[in-house]
Amino acid sequence: MRVAVVGLGHIGLPLAVQYASRGHAVIGCDLSTSIVDAINAGRSPHDDEAALVERVPELVASGRLRATRDDAEGVRQAEVVVVIVPLVVDERREIDFGPIDAATREVARGLQPGTLVVYETTLPVGTTRDRFAPMLESGSGLKLERDLFLAFSPERVLVGRVLLDLRRYPKIVGGTGPASTERALAFYREALEPGTEIRAVANAETAEMTKLAETTYRDVNIALANEYARYAAARGIDVIEVIEAANSQPYSHIHAPGVGVGGHCIPVYPHFLFNTDADLRLPRLARAINEEMGGWTVARLEERIGPLSGQPVLVLGIAYRADVREDAFSSAFRLRDELRAAGATVYGHDPYFTVEHLRTAGFEPYDLANPIAVRGAIVQAPHAAYRALDFADLPGLEVVIDGRNALDRASIEASGVAYLGIGH
Ligand SMILES: NC(=O)c1ccc[n+]([C@@H]2O[C@H](COP(=O)([O-])OP(=O)(O)OC[C@H]3O[C@@H](n4cnc5c(N)ncnc54)[C@H](O)[C@@H]3O)[C@@H](O)[C@H]2O)c1
Repeated sequence: MRVAVVGLGHIGLPLAVQYASRGHAVIGCDLSTSIVDAINAGRSPHDDEAALVERVPELVASGRLRATRDDAEGVRQAEVVVVIVPLVVDERREIDFGPIDAATREVARGLQPGTLVVYETTLPVGTTRDRFAPMLESGSGLKLERDLFLAFSPERVLVGRVLLDLRRYPKIVGGTGPASTERALAFYREALEPGTEIRAVANAETAEMTKLAETTYRDVNIALANEYARYAAARGIDVIEVIEAANSQPYSHIHAPGVGVGGHCIPVYPHFLFNTDADLRLPRLARAINEEMGGWTVARLEERIGPLSGQPVLVLGIAYRADVREDAFSSAFRLRDELRAAGATVYGHDPYFTVEHLRTAGFEPYDLANPIAVRGAIVQAPHAAYRALDFADLPGLEVVIDGRNALDRASIEASGVAYLGIGH
């Protein structure tokens, strides 16, 4: 098959590599000159997955993978188009359809009769049919389910291990009509590894909601864990011991409490659900509970060391999770704001980001090699480096708050620094 992948980011490039590895002729489309040039020169523009760095050169050399900056031109040469351009969301989680609409208009310009288009970008329910189908039809002159086929299939993978996750998670597919669903199923059977489960659901809306349902479930579950953490902390109970004991019953799957929820997905997609339906109460409440965890953590610090006004406090890790260079919607920013509101001087450290990035993100950069006095440290992202850190080396440090319950309490306490976990 001739396949166009529109958007060669951290998800799109691995998809292109997967399809090309199954023998299809893949043309990747991206607005970024550096991404397109790197691929056409036989190099992976992203280094977050070792298999990409290995496979891109051979796939390009064999002619099975190439790239263009012209979406319409790439689409013109394809029987199947996979769109994986992000839906942009601002700080307040308001959606900007501008970039994905622009990509859709370009796709429409290149469409040939009989093409299948699959959106994999996470979308609010109804977007594929109500927003993109009319744009694709009017821009191409083609008619849905007659000579244009359109489906939604959520991307459920994690950056850094996309090729592995594509093999092990079922591929959920829902078309805008029966012929679209059939064609999308046939495509994924040929494009993913043999043996991958490919599961049709009733329609595109079901597939769209599936992604929002699974991510919102995790946000709600974490909110419950956070409420348990607060309840346990008020009673001197170790919530981690409670959760481990509770989860020994097979119907209990309580997630981990923490200082907040970050990343592109979990703190964002619940908004796609409840922004369009005021009756969805639980996801909205869960979001609010998870957003409060930064303030709750700062209050614990104040209880321990007194008013923070003028006091130096260090946030360790601004990435949204351990050992990634990615800080989208990181709870480090909520912590920064809460600490500032309490009057603290907020230092930040993260081995994955430059000093300039930390400064732009609103932190005083902190150098662990030349440490200055801080009274409290909050571990926001439990990078491996922090597990090996000797906290006794930080002058003036009285307490470490382990925002992910990931550090070794005994060794921190042995170094003469107090330890507090989240509900622990
Ligand atoms: N990142 C994740 O962890 C993750 C996980 C699962 C699903 N997803 C889904 O995948 C989507 C993409 O994520 P990503 O991490 O690959 O994003 P990314 O930011 O790494 O890459 C997006 C790419 O799209 C390109 N692009 C933007 N407009 C374009 C256009 N008009 N034509 C062609 N290319 C265009 C950009 O130049 C960029 O290279 C997300 O919005 C989300 O819905 C992401």
